[in-house]
Amino acid sequence: MEKIVILTGAGISAESGLGTFRDEGGLWSQHRIEDVATPEGFARNPALVHEFYNARRAQAAKATPNAAHHALARLEQEFDGQVLIVTQNVDGLHESAGSRNVLHMHGILNGALCADCGHRWPAPAQMYPGFPCPSCGAGMGRPDIVWFGEMPYYMDQIWDHLRDANIFAAIGTSGQVYPAAAFGQDAWRAGAHTVELNLEPSATVSDFAETRFGPATQIVPEWVDELLRR
Ligand code: APR
Ligand code: ZN
Repeated sequence: MEKIVILTGAGISAESGLGTFRDEGGLWSQHRIEDVATPEGFARNPALVHEFYNARRAQAAKATPNAAHHALARLEQEFDGQVLIVTQNVDGLHESAGSRNVLHMHGILNGALCADCGHRWPAPAQMYPGFPCPSCGAGMGRPDIVWFGEMPYYMDQIWDHLRDANIFAAIGTSGQVYPAAAFGQDAWRAGAHTVELNLEPSATVSDFAETRFGPATQIVPEWVDELLRR
C-alpha cells in the first residue's frame, strides 16, 4: 500500500490568519524564543509564557482551515493508500478540516501538561502560573507545547513512517528547525519521492526532488488533484 507522509509548518496556516515564525513580522520578531519557548523561560517567568500561549490559543480558536488544510483532508479520504500528516503546528486546523491521521510533533495549543507528573488534559482558554494539575494537584500546569531543548513527540513513529514512505512532502516550513528539517533527507535516503511545497525555497530545498512554489491555498490543492488523478 502506497504511503504519503506530509510534514507541515506554519506556512500552511498563514492564509488562515495565523502568523508564521520567521517571515517578516513573524512571531520570533515580536518575542524572544528564550523567554517564551524554552523550559528555562517558563521557570523564570511563567506568567509571560502563559500570556503568550493564551494569546495564541485565542487566535487559533478564531482561525478556520483554508483550502490547503481541506485538500490534505480530501487526500486522506480519497487516496488509495495511507496518508499521514506530521505537523510542527500547534493549531488544530488539520483536524478542523477533517484530517484524522495527524501527529503533533511540537504539541498542541489546546493541550495542558503537568510539569510534575506528566498528566495531560484539555487546556482551558486561559492558563496561569500555578495552574493546578487535575491529577496530582501540583500547581505545575504548563502548555503542552514542545519547547526548544525538549524532544519532539512521536519521533520513533515518525522515523518509522519516513522509512517506508513512497512520497514525502514538506509544506510551509522554512527547514530551519531540527529534527523536522532533516525529514526530507531521511525520506530521500529511504527511497521516497520528495516534494517541497512552499512560498519560497526553504533552507533544505536541495533535499527535494520536486519543488512547487506559491501560496499553499493554491499549490496544495493542485498537488492533491494530481495525486488523486494518477
Ligand atoms: N503558503 C506557503 N508557504 C508559506 C506561506 C503561504 N501562504 N506563507 C509563508 N510560507 C512559508 C515561508 O516561506 C516559510 O518557509 O512558510 C514557512 C514558515 O517558516 P517558519 O516561520 O520558520 O515556520 P516553521 O518552519 O513552521 O517553524 C518550525 O520553529 O519556532 C519553531 O516550533 C516552532 O514549529 C515551529 C518550528
Ligand atoms: Zn500532575
